[in-house]
Amino acid sequence: CGIVGIIGQGGATETLVQGLKKLEYRGYDSAGIFIHNTETDYLIKSVGRIAHLEEKLAPEIDGTMGIGHTRWATHGKPTEENAHPHQSSDGRFVLVHNGVIENYQELKQLLSKGVLGEDCTDTQIVVELISQLVAQHQLDAKEGLRQVLTLIKGSYAFALVDKKNPEAIYLAKNKSPLLIGVGEDFHGCCSDAMAMIEKTNQFVEIKDGEIVVLTKSSYQIESLAGEKVERAPYTAELDSQDLEKGTYEHYMLKEMEEQPAVIRRILSKYLDEHGNLTISKEVLDQLKASDRIYIVACGTSYHAGLVGKKLFETLTHIPTEVHIASEFGYHMPLLTKSPFFIFLSQSGETADSRQVLVQVADRYPTLTMTNTPGSTLSREASHTLLLHAGPEIAVASTKAYTAQLAVLAILANVLGQSLQNELALSFDLAHELSLVASGLEEVMAEKGQFEELAKEVISDQAHAFYIGRGLDYYVALEAALKLKEISYVHCEGYAAGELKHGPIALIENETPVIALLTEASTLDHTRGNMKEVESRGARVISLVSEQYATEQDTIVLPKVHSLLTPLITVLPTQYLAYYTSLNRGLDVDKPRNLAKSVTVE
Ligand code: G6P
Repeated sequence: CGIVGIIGQGGATETLVQGLKKLEYRGYDSAGIFIHNTETDYLIKSVGRIAHLEEKLAPEIDGTMGIGHTRWATHGKPTEENAHPHQSSDGRFVLVHNGVIENYQELKQLLSKGVLGEDCTDTQIVVELISQLVAQHQLDAKEGLRQVLTLIKGSYAFALVDKKNPEAIYLAKNKSPLLIGVGEDFHGCCSDAMAMIEKTNQFVEIKDGEIVVLTKSSYQIESLAGEKVERAPYTAELDSQDLEKGTYEHYMLKEMEEQPAVIRRILSKYLDEHGNLTISKEVLDQLKASDRIYIVACGTSYHAGLVGKKLFETLTHIPTEVHIASEFGYHMPLLTKSPFFIFLSQSGETADSRQVLVQVADRYPTLTMTNTPGSTLSREASHTLLLHAGPEIAVASTKAYTAQLAVLAILANVLGQSLQNELALSFDLAHELSLVASGLEEVMAEKGQFEELAKEVISDQAHAFYIGRGLDYYVALEAALKLKEISYVHCEGYAAGELKHGPIALIENETPVIALLTEASTLDHTRGNMKEVESRGARVISLVSEQYATEQDTIVLPKVHSLLTPLITVLPTQYLAYYTSLNRGLDVDKPRNLAKSVTVE
């Protein structure tokens, strides 16, 4: 979910709507705003996208303060009633919330009987409780909020308005992100600086367990115990141009086609003045002292982690494990004596990854590899390596994946060199990555062939497979996820050799099977697997590195270093997903049920 708020400046409705649109990547099941002006106030909600909400906003709905929310449903269906802001039953308090209150049943017991129905949401309970405590004990809003915070277990970012004193917005957070925006004649709040960057580039971090009072002219931060906290704003380095689609029809296509530029930008950021790739000595020393690397991540980042394992084990000989965060946190394997943790997260906010970080950060060295400076995972790990991919807006991750692969390769190779690994010492990674960037441009120049294949082979099918071995298998997993996410074609990424041990039963006439072939040692075997499915009716497409291509292959891809092939093979699979989604008339950038940044476990 995403939160935005503003106090002190006219045109609040426009600020909230524009801000919410920037936050839609955090969820888009339903949305709502509360707006106050000197005469009256408005509470408007709607199911679906911000655009639906906008249609309901008559021109007179405007004011100088307001809070807004875009939701990704956790408790309660995505209905208008369940959309935020929520109002207390006496109409005095209005609240938006991002996160999940775990002990909401317990909190509900504290409310007077019957004020809320059976199927009320956790947020409704919180705003009701604030109102009740304030009324019972004659508290002010801040005090009411503070008392409720001491009772809550769970994650939250709150923005609260007391209609009796509309000169302030009250904020609090735990685990979910929330920032203060500082302007000349206003203050604001938002889940991500992106939502306010067009109004200000000055932001103040709020830490877990703090309460903030925002007014037109000030922001006051204090701890839960009431001690004042002084904190100066920082300048957010976000270019609002990066947040626009430009001439592209979709963010996803724009972001896919930025990939060569992203690789070059990463090189420029990680090369020192002597032209050597560098990583801080402290990170290298801690990695050298470790006996195992644990990579923890979710979704696309997890798939990048699998490639990371291959890079670390080949270039450093340090054993590496890759884990899905939501599994690792609750079923932790036996750890070695000296583990080193790497958290991969585009957003730096994923709650599943964070719960692992919180468990291990006190005991072991941790590094977050993220696209988002200042994000929660970045702040809470001992080290951060930035992806420098620029804001990724489309829900399906593309350029962040390739950026993760490039930065993982840099880390693995610099570490390998400092460990005197022979392969690492002879690997001119900067040069090889620049060849990757050019290779991606070659693939982009031929994108018409993916458009055709998507139309002819995939778009009308209900099921599909990607197969490969080794690195190609890891890319197959990512390719299948991409196709599922945005085209809703059920797709599985499979180890090519494993297909015959079960899933081959699903092959029917015309079932697309897309094989990735970039590895000499397994080429013949995978070709054999292609034959096995072809003879059972599958429509086989091959994506093959040029040095292994034959007349029969479908798509020939530029040759790059054998450890870097995923950076090339993934692009055709992104195009296939993109065009399939278009052919099926779907919302490429905002597929159903998903959110880009999932801040609940
Ligand atoms: C969500 C997104 C995925 C993403 C995953 C991990 O589920 O829809 O695209 O890969 O979160 O996100 P992160 O920001 O931690 O990389």
